[in-house]
Amino acid sequence: MSTPIVAEAHLRSENVLVQADAKDLGSFVAAGSADLAYLDPPFKVEKSFGARLTKGSSRARGPIAYDDTWTSLEAYLAWLEERIAVVREALSPRGTMWLHLDQRAVHEAKIVCDRVFGAKRFRGEVVWVPGNGSKSKTGPGMSHQTILLYARGSEPIWNAKAPALRAPFAATSLDMHFTNVDDDGRRYRDRVVGNKTYRYYADEGRALGSVWTDCPSMAANTPLRAETTGYPTQKPLKLLDRIVRATSDVGSLVVDPFCGSGTTLVAAAAADRRFAGSDVGDLAIRTTSSRLDASGITYRSR
Ligand SMILES: C[S@@+](CC[C@H](N)C(=O)[O-])C[C@H]1O[C@@H](n2cnc3c(N)ncnc32)[C@H](O)[C@@H]1O
Repeated sequence: MSTPIVAEAHLRSENVLVQADAKDLGSFVAAGSADLAYLDPPFKVEKSFGARLTKGSSRARGPIAYDDTWTSLEAYLAWLEERIAVVREALSPRGTMWLHLDQRAVHEAKIVCDRVFGAKRFRGEVVWVPGNGSKSKTGPGMSHQTILLYARGSEPIWNAKAPALRAPFAATSLDMHFTNVDDDGRRYRDRVVGNKTYRYYADEGRALGSVWTDCPSMAANTPLRAETTGYPTQKPLKLLDRIVRATSDVGSLVVDPFCGSGTTLVAAAAADRRFAGSDVGDLAIRTTSSRLDASGITYRSR
């Protein structure tokens, strides 16, 4: 039996899980209400993805979880644009959208996002290194995926000091630079740039930056790990925990319209946020429901 991961107070929040096409998000999420939307849609891989329903079985021979084949790149981008436009409407003035893709379509999808949000709303991108092997005979093997970040307004939530966005300073840096101690006993260093002094505390760690190598996909994709559901392309909880804590606050509404196995919803509940998740697939909704139930997370389903 799994242990509930959320405390009593979180169980009272209004969480919702809906079987729906992402383009219908507006029927269960009020316009302007979501502080964060994470989108992990089909990447245009041009294959169907099978699921592993029992430990030891093979995904390739399991039931189809979802299809990722398209008649053309243009058809894929038109499909994506319609859904991104709906997601933008759901965002609050301080809300952001993270769009997770890979080299197959991220270049063109960024142009789509520029069109929907305005190019000046692009807030950067994360290069996520899942840690899988990769090989190619024609160029560098692709060992990363890209997550684009767009904001609805000019002052999005960005919790730069959240521990999830920090890493410890290197021991040499601590020894060499953090030689001062303040009245509260905290080690720090001051850096003077121009005529301004910036103070850095050792216990806050350094900002992670945009290349994330410490959230291995293996955590979500091997039957040996507790968080693995057997759903294909499941993302690791650590990745979603970081995204949730970076761009939402306690009580924020977090939306995932392509929720798959429900990773974002579990991460949101664990961080004391509310969630609205949806997926068009039967297996995705069944997998997410069992995962939420096993974690003791309450929600309404429609
Ligand atoms: C890459 S998977 C998401 C995996 C998820 N992030 C996780 O951690 O398990 C993409 C999902 O998009 C869903 N999907 C495909 N077309 C959709 C649509 N039009 N509306 C909503 N969901 C859709 C698929 O069923 C699939 O579960």
